[in-house]
Amino acid sequence: MSDTITLKIDGREVTVPKGTTILDAAAQVGIEIPVICYHPHLTANGLCRICSVDAGGRVQAAACVTPCAEGMNVDTQSEDVCRGRRTILEMLAVTVELTEAPEILTLLATYAADESRFTMGARRTAPVYDDNPFYIRDYNQCINCWRCVQVCAEDAQYTFALNFDGRGFHTQIGTFMSNGMTDTTCVFCGQCVGVCPTGALKPKRQVLLEQGWDPDSIFEATRRKRKPHKEKG
Ligand code: SF4
Ligand code: FES
Repeated sequence: MSDTITLKIDGREVTVPKGTTILDAAAQVGIEIPVICYHPHLTANGLCRICSVDAGGRVQAAACVTPCAEGMNVDTQSEDVCRGRRTILEMLAVTVELTEAPEILTLLATYAADESRFTMGARRTAPVYDDNPFYIRDYNQCINCWRCVQVCAEDAQYTFALNFDGRGFHTQIGTFMSNGMTDTTCVFCGQCVGVCPTGALKPKRQVLLEQGWDPDSIFEATRRKRKPHKEKG
């Protein structure tokens, strides 16, 4: 039995090892499928569906989590696929503050998303947490991509300080018992900030710089205060 699979993506034949996702197979032949929640170093969860493609099934398949199958014929740019992406982006833009999410803004332009189609949609408002010296959490800008949770858990840090909180439309990222970050298992490694695709997680120093603080005041405000040194004798 062969360990490889041959399929066609946008008319191009490609042979890949079994288990390869459509996203990776497409990349192998130079076809870029858009992603939002997917990160190459994190476990893919197929949450945002922006990578959906027509793979011949009853419904579109999320390319980042769907393995290739023998003889599959994938269309990554069909009219239905593009309409689906446009709709996802329009709903996202209505629901969440995206001004600091450059990759998503580029996708909005690429797919000619028109958020005015959903002006009746509710805006998801959420608290801004400034509860530690290292980073700010502004969940008004959070798209619930799960990257921060994943990197804080089994994908890297094994700290488990973050998880989903709330239900349905009000789902957001939170901490155990909504504790402030310094009262969680967080070790302030900064990896969640590094993988966040929006401005939802931002270093506190960057926030203060954007607010016009000078570097010395920022240093003073964000460094750990040490106890005064006792003179000997
Ligand atoms: S805080 Fe950032 S990384 Fe975490 S879920 Fe929200 S958008 Fe994704
Ligand atoms: S990038 Fe595939 S579901 Fe989000």
